[in-house]
Amino acid sequence: MYSVTTSSLLVGLVALHGANAWGTLGHATVAYIAQNYLNDATATWAKGVLSDTSTSYLANVASWADTYRSTTAGAFSAPYHYIDANDSPPTTCNVDYNRDCTSSGCSISAISNYTQRVGDGRLSAANKAEALKFLVHLLGDITQPLHDEALATGGNDIKVTFDGYTNDNLHSDWDTYIPQKKAGGSSLTVAQSWAKTLITAIDSGTYKSAKASWVASSNINDAVSSATAWASDANKLVCSVVMPNGVAALQKGDLYPTYYNSVIPTVELQIAKGGYRLADWLNKVYAAKIAKREVDGVLVSRMAEEAAPLPPANRPSKAELAREVYGGGCGCDKHRREE
Ligand SMILES: *[C@@H]1O[C@H](CO)[C@@H](O)[C@H](O)[C@H]1NC(C)=O
Ligand SMILES: [Zn+2]
Repeated sequence: MYSVTTSSLLVGLVALHGANAWGTLGHATVAYIAQNYLNDATATWAKGVLSDTSTSYLANVASWADTYRSTTAGAFSAPYHYIDANDSPPTTCNVDYNRDCTSSGCSISAISNYTQRVGDGRLSAANKAEALKFLVHLLGDITQPLHDEALATGGNDIKVTFDGYTNDNLHSDWDTYIPQKKAGGSSLTVAQSWAKTLITAIDSGTYKSAKASWVASSNINDAVSSATAWASDANKLVCSVVMPNGVAALQKGDLYPTYYNSVIPTVELQIAKGGYRLADWLNKVYAAKIAKREVDGVLVSRMAEEAAPLPPANRPSKAELAREVYGGGCGCDKHRREE
């Protein structure tokens, strides 16, 4: 009787830990940081596109793309949340857009597509809102190092123990449980307060001098190069911070507290970077595509005709090949990423 109760309780706890799907906390924190750095005209435009004038207008939609990907209509967008860099961590880390972005798309091609679409005057309000929601989410995902890595499906297949939970994988710990341990929860209120701390660090603390370098590669006229630079920046951290001693070293014991302490400065850095970059990118989208359109009707059609570049049609990634080898449908369950 006692043991039955105990095991049901354990099952309950594991389920709770596994249920929460960067997770909602990370994405909302990125969004709140971005809201702080949008200039007034961009903020007004974004609120209009999203039909939300609340104080959480970006945070409210920051995880929409994760809900959408798990619907039938949104399944096509699942590969947009990451790029499977076929490198060899911890020895070599690098992202190669032509090698790593498959014909189904990846974070880089999706950021390029939605950057073009959000400013496309021919599209419906719903399509523009969709594009903005994707940008808010994907500029967060691309700063999470394991969203820029093919190894073990972005770490989803690396079983680890974190903070007493023996049923974790490295990807979801980076997405969700490590950030939640640091911030103390997953609600919008917790995200807002974590964002406030990171905004202070950006304005006058640890990140004050580094922040200019975070947006140095952001060129609104070349979204593919910009997003490739963001992905490469995060991917390097797979070798230096996420698994500097390889995979086996992560599976020797609880990742809390030693590993957690070694990565938490990087987790915070990447969240701060994601928010600051998102604001800078949306300010640039507004200036280059929206403000101009408002003053020059002729420009509308010219902007609209700019086609979004297609992802390179190349061979499938290692992860896709693995899915085929395992066979049976899409292999979604085996390889599904939380984020
Ligand atoms: C661009 O976004 C639209 C709308 O979500 C989608 O149908 C299309 O496949 C995307 N194209 C690329 C190249 O990602
Ligand atoms: Zn995602």
